[in-house]
Amino acid sequence: MKPLNSQHIIESLELAALACEDPTSLVYQRLFLTNPELEDLFLMDRNDEAKGHMLFEVIEAIIDFVGPKYTSEGLIVTEVINHRQIGVPIEVFDTFFTTVRDTFREMLGNKWTSEFDEAWAQLLLELSHVVHGKSTD
Ligand code: HEM
Repeated sequence: MKPLNSQHIIESLELAALACEDPTSLVYQRLFLTNPELEDLFLMDRNDEAKGHMLFEVIEAIIDFVGPKYTSEGLIVTEVINHRQIGVPIEVFDTFFTTVRDTFREMLGNKWTSEFDEAWAQLLLELSHVVHGKSTD
């Protein structure tokens, strides 16, 4: 597999954090616009607290995944199983990670570079391999 450029991922996340303090509403608005059937899963989360917490965990997992990989692979595998119990199909993990990328790309506008694009494409591929239990070697 092609090496993943961690630095470009971290840089894009830093710029996204500067562009928007809390991207929760932007990420989920995009998710529900493109996948309206997912909105009902979050009916209990009236104040967006769970959505915000989940997004935070996902971003933390990405930071670990492009770095030391202490916890992210185990976390993703565990969450695929935990979320199955609450009706989240496995394929939606790819959708969610892609939605995070698309939201940040739109937020950054012309600050988003072709290097970010390439690094994120590779990241999404590698995350998908973890979600679907394929070897990343
Ligand atoms: C690696 C990926 C994911 C991680 C680390 C993760 C993490 C979490 C965490 C920590 C919570 C509990 C939040 C809280 O109650 O404070 C949560 C809840 C939830 N997650 Fe995820 N999640 C992931 C992927 C997904 C995906 C792809 C979906 C579907 C779009 C999803 C749907 C939900 C739902 C419906 C809840 C319950 C919300 C509620 O309490 O009403 N998650 N997730």
